[in-house]
Amino acid sequence: MDEKKRMLSGIQPSGELTLGSYMGAIKNWAERADEFDCYYFMADMHTLTVRQNPADLRRRTVEQLAQYIACGLDPEKNTLFIQSHVPQHAQLAWILDCYTMFGELSRMTQFKSKSVHHEDNINAGLFTYPCLMAADILLYQAHYVPVGEDQKQHCELTRDIALRFNGIYGDVFTVPDPYIAKVGARVMSLTSPENKMSKSDKDPNGCVYLMDPPEVIARKFKRAVTDSEMCVRYDPENKPGISNLIQIYACATGKDYDAVEQEFAGQGYGVFKTAVGDAVVELCRPIREEANRLLADKAYLESVYRAGADKASYIANRTLRKVYKKVGFVQK
Ligand code: TRP
Repeated sequence: MDEKKRMLSGIQPSGELTLGSYMGAIKNWAERADEFDCYYFMADMHTLTVRQNPADLRRRTVEQLAQYIACGLDPEKNTLFIQSHVPQHAQLAWILDCYTMFGELSRMTQFKSKSVHHEDNINAGLFTYPCLMAADILLYQAHYVPVGEDQKQHCELTRDIALRFNGIYGDVFTVPDPYIAKVGARVMSLTSPENKMSKSDKDPNGCVYLMDPPEVIARKFKRAVTDSEMCVRYDPENKPGISNLIQIYACATGKDYDAVEQEFAGQGYGVFKTAVGDAVVELCRPIREEANRLLADKAYLESVYRAGADKASYIANRTLRKVYKKVGFVQK
């Protein structure tokens, strides 16, 4: 059991879970529990870098947990927890702040782009965010961190920080590798298919949420942007909208792209878009129903995040104690 390599990832409960995060990440996570010792957490501390409504944050954090479980992350096989329940994250983050250079943080592309988007709130947390993320990862001695393209730079920095710290104090941290899934959909916005589907999309029709009711999902797919060729053919370069829909349909039904092209050969985009919408409705239905069932059982969800926090704290504490000793803090 202890032989398994450890994997860890987090998602910020700063918005509802999207079809993109399901197809691109969570769906794959559920399948990895046998091979890896998996930790997944709600990165609630990270969300504060952007102003949040407290009641919404609380609600979304618990909803996200319910949705993780509904997506197939079995709490018996995976450690699921809420970041702020494990104070070692903040404690290690401070120390890592002191081993990370101002220049390194200034080069983070996410900091630069978020500074542009949140011009009125360029807070210190936004700047040191990668150190908190490094703490998240290094506390658990994680070998692998499944992340999307947008987080690769943060993972690189985490490795640099770990190597720097190990260089001074000996082998304290496992140096993590980003884990790029062999099969991972990159779902694009339905209305601007050159951009990734994102919960921060300004156009609400571009993004499908896992908890969207069927009629909303169907409507969003009916409005999806296509092209004027009238041919269901996979060609992301020239036909980004249709290619995205093919990818989504393939992922929802388990068919490959060729089969999808054949199925809709000679048919109009209307038929195809309706079929994709129906497939996604059926994909989301059991997830939504199960998440709602779980949300009605607060005691169960509480028992999951408590047990998760206990397990996570145990490991996190082992690492933190080692770090405290190495840097010269007095043991009590
Ligand atoms: N920064 C990640 C994101 O915005 C979320 C995150 C926080 C994370 N801590 C992490 C991901 C640790 C992987 C590992 O998507």
